[in-house]
Amino acid sequence: MHRKESDVSALPGSTDSPPRRTIRSFVLREGRLTLAQERAFRELWPRFGCDWTPGVPLDLATLFGNDHPVVLEIGFGNGDSLAEMAAQDPARNWLGIEVHRPGVGHLLLEIERRGLTNLRLIRHDAVEVLRDGIQPAALDGVQLFFPDPWHKRRHHKRRILGPALMPLLARAIRSGGIFHAATDWEPYAEQMLETLESIPDWFENTAGQGQFAPRPAARPLTKFEQRGERLGHRVHDLVFRRR
Ligand SMILES: C[S@@+](CC[C@H](N)C(=O)[O-])C[C@H]1O[C@@H](n2cnc3c(N)ncnc32)[C@H](O)[C@@H]1O
Repeated sequence: MHRKESDVSALPGSTDSPPRRTIRSFVLREGRLTLAQERAFRELWPRFGCDWTPGVPLDLATLFGNDHPVVLEIGFGNGDSLAEMAAQDPARNWLGIEVHRPGVGHLLLEIERRGLTNLRLIRHDAVEVLRDGIQPAALDGVQLFFPDPWHKRRHHKRRILGPALMPLLARAIRSGGIFHAATDWEPYAEQMLETLESIPDWFENTAGQGQFAPRPAARPLTKFEQRGERLGHRVHDLVFRRR
């Protein structure tokens, strides 16, 4: 069956894959690794990194060595807030996906510094991992904090949170699980709200129809959020429950 990327009517859990994406939500800038980050890739990646083979479903219980619930974070940046959440909530496993190499290196070092055992990292396009690497209902939650807002109208198609992501989230998150997004870019916040509320059969707004959520106490300040705060931007949280 051929389906447009924007078609959200696809059934979560359906086995036919959507067409390959070509527009990505990131532009890969390699950036330089510090010496410590280079060491982290050599010594820590084999323990905490996952070399995902595109197209192959992940066995999360094997990856973490237990079957605790798993929360996936898309685009963790430098990962300080993800490390903090993993440390605060050791009963759950945390899977961070980021394409930016120095950010991954930074978080590997943070995992070592804090002695975390419940955090694993994948360096890949998170949309592909969600689509092809995560089994149906395998996740307790997905979080997406301060995704690139792609301000210019002609770049809006690069925004990661749009209709094409919805069937992937709905498929990956178990019933009762949470999708949590935050942004400091108001027009994107409005778009997120509209997109998530357009699929009421899949997700319920925990804050009530048309409302943004109070900032959950468990969400630490992220690096990009601090930048937004300096610019005087208001932060919007969206917390939706999978039906
Ligand atoms: C604006 S930054 C925010 C980082 C972090 N969440 C924070 O709040 O500090 C967005 C991050 O998402 C990453 N990113 C964007 N699209 C991605 C994708 N499809 N897969 C993995 N990472 C992605 C970028 O590399 C970037 O580090």
